[in-house]
Amino acid sequence: MKVEVEEPTTELQRPKIDFYSASVLTGDATAEDLETIKRHTSVYVYETPVRLWHWINAAAILVLCVTGWFIGNPPPTMEIGEATNQFVFGYIRFAHFAAAMVMTIGFFGRIYWSFVGNHHSKQMFRLPIHKAEWWKEVFFEMRWYMFLEKEPKKYVGHNPLAQIAMFFFMTLGMTFMIVTGFTLYAEGLGADHWLSTLTGPILALVGNSQVMHSLHHLGMWAIVIFVMIHIYAAIREDIMSRQSMVSTMLSGHRTFKDDRPE
Ligand code: HEM
Ligand code: HEM
Repeated sequence: MKVEVEEPTTELQRPKIDFYSASVLTGDATAEDLETIKRHTSVYVYETPVRLWHWINAAAILVLCVTGWFIGNPPPTMEIGEATNQFVFGYIRFAHFAAAMVMTIGFFGRIYWSFVGNHHSKQMFRLPIHKAEWWKEVFFEMRWYMFLEKEPKKYVGHNPLAQIAMFFFMTLGMTFMIVTGFTLYAEGLGADHWLSTLTGPILALVGNSQVMHSLHHLGMWAIVIFVMIHIYAAIREDIMSRQSMVSTMLSGHRTFKDDRPE
């Protein structure tokens, strides 16, 4: 039987057609584009719970930083009305505590997902520090971020430098904020509350409530620094790397801009 082999069309050979007619679904694609989309160029990386957690957690952290800043730097008495008729600072603290509960429950949920989710969901919690290859890639990424490498590498999950930042600033950082935050919260609940029994030794360890406030406050600035670098890196890599970034945290799919494997 004679098999008809279709010659790949080139830019010049592609017939002149109305690209937006209903029969041509690829719109204004060139012959080269058509060749590219024949290959499978995306990998499903971040599962729905990871993506949901990312954005809920980001929103909670934003609320925590803004309200936390006001708790640490209270505005002068507001002339909204008689003191007895206003509850502004109460609302600020309420928003802080509500977001704190969302962040804490979300964090436990995210830890659970690192056990049942895919390989990439574990990255934020486990650094492969025993692997020489991983360290080599950490240093490669440092050079890439400092504009000392011409060509970036491809990563399906987090790149090793991002992984380190997420581990120290988020996994450890959030744990620190939850421990110090709940120790402060327990003070408001009273010495006979079970939470105070649990956090009492932590308070005793740091000395007093003022030191605990300062540590919790400093933790905020560490997280603010992470968030600034993180958003810069996400947008920078979306433009400069060889793969998608921001859309990956929305759809879960990592798409690649070329088909070279490394
Ligand atoms: C308070 C704000 C934010 C915090 C605390 C935060 C935190 C995180 C964390 C912890 C991860 C790791 C996710 C995981 O492995 O489960 C992550 C990943 C990611 N975030 Fe954010 N994020 C914030 C805001 C944003 C914003 C505004 C963007 C978009 C511009 C963004 C884009 C991304 C992307 C693209 C990834 C995946 C990076 C990669 O593939 O290596 N994040 N973020
Ligand atoms: C990313 C997470 C968080 C950030 C950025 C943050 C930020 C802050 C800041 C800046 C302060 C003011 C500290 C001071 O200078 O006195 C504060 C106070 C406080 N935070 Fe957080 N916090 C976070 C998480 C939590 C969590 C998880 C809890 C647990 C319930 C919590 C409970 C508290 C309490 C009880 C206070 C003291 C309130 C007061 O004295 O009126 N925070 N927080």
